[in-house]
Amino acid sequence: MTDPGQLEVAGLCGSLRAASYNRSALQAAGQLMPAGMNLRVASFVEIPIYCADEQERAWPSAVLALGDAIAQADAVLICSPEYNFSVPGGLKNALDWLSRLPRQPFKGKPVAIMGAATGPVGTARMQYDLRRILQFLDAQVLLKPEIFIGNAKAKFDDEGKLVDETTLKFIGDQMTALERLIRREQAVNGAG
Ligand SMILES: Cc1cc2nc3c(=O)[nH]c(=O)nc-3n(C[C@H](O)[C@H](O)[C@H](O)COP(=O)(O)O)c2cc1C
Repeated sequence: MTDPGQLEVAGLCGSLRAASYNRSALQAAGQLMPAGMNLRVASFVEIPIYCADEQERAWPSAVLALGDAIAQADAVLICSPEYNFSVPGGLKNALDWLSRLPRQPFKGKPVAIMGAATGPVGTARMQYDLRRILQFLDAQVLLKPEIFIGNAKAKFDDEGKLVDETTLKFIGDQMTALERLIRREQAVNGAG
């Protein structure tokens, strides 16, 4: 049984790349979380392309597993690149599946967003599209601080570790703000 004071955060990375800047930033966020908060990274890699006929036949087990991971978490942290000015297809596809679950797991769920890109805008366009999608899913998306990691090559070392001090400070601040949002939602709706 988990400690009731412990907060579990399901992490989702929008990139499947082995040396992904976004996965590295997600791991940095896990280390910068306030005491009592724990990151567990989930995956959509096994989820097939959405098809309503397949949904009718049988829900893919990978969709059910990701839905459970999100439903059981106190919050979700999504760290994603921007692909062609928007949300990467794999992440959008996973959200499309999850949105059809009878107990839609994002409903009322605190969600924080961040992203890293090699371009200068640092995933801002992706993040505003993602916010719109999550709004339709009734998620409680954290407003600030926003984390746009632009020019990623200069902010990660040769081993792919996030080393930019300003970015690390912003991520720590976002994790503190996420904890506050979770506690506020739990106070309003009741914990668990
Ligand atoms: C299909 C594709 C589309 C991309 N589109 C954008 C884009 O719109 N904006 C941007 O800043 N970078 C774009 N990039 C570059 C990504 O920022 C870069 O590949 C980044 O490293 C991806 O994140 P990752 O390291 O977590 O895989 C694109 C990359 C790919 C593969």
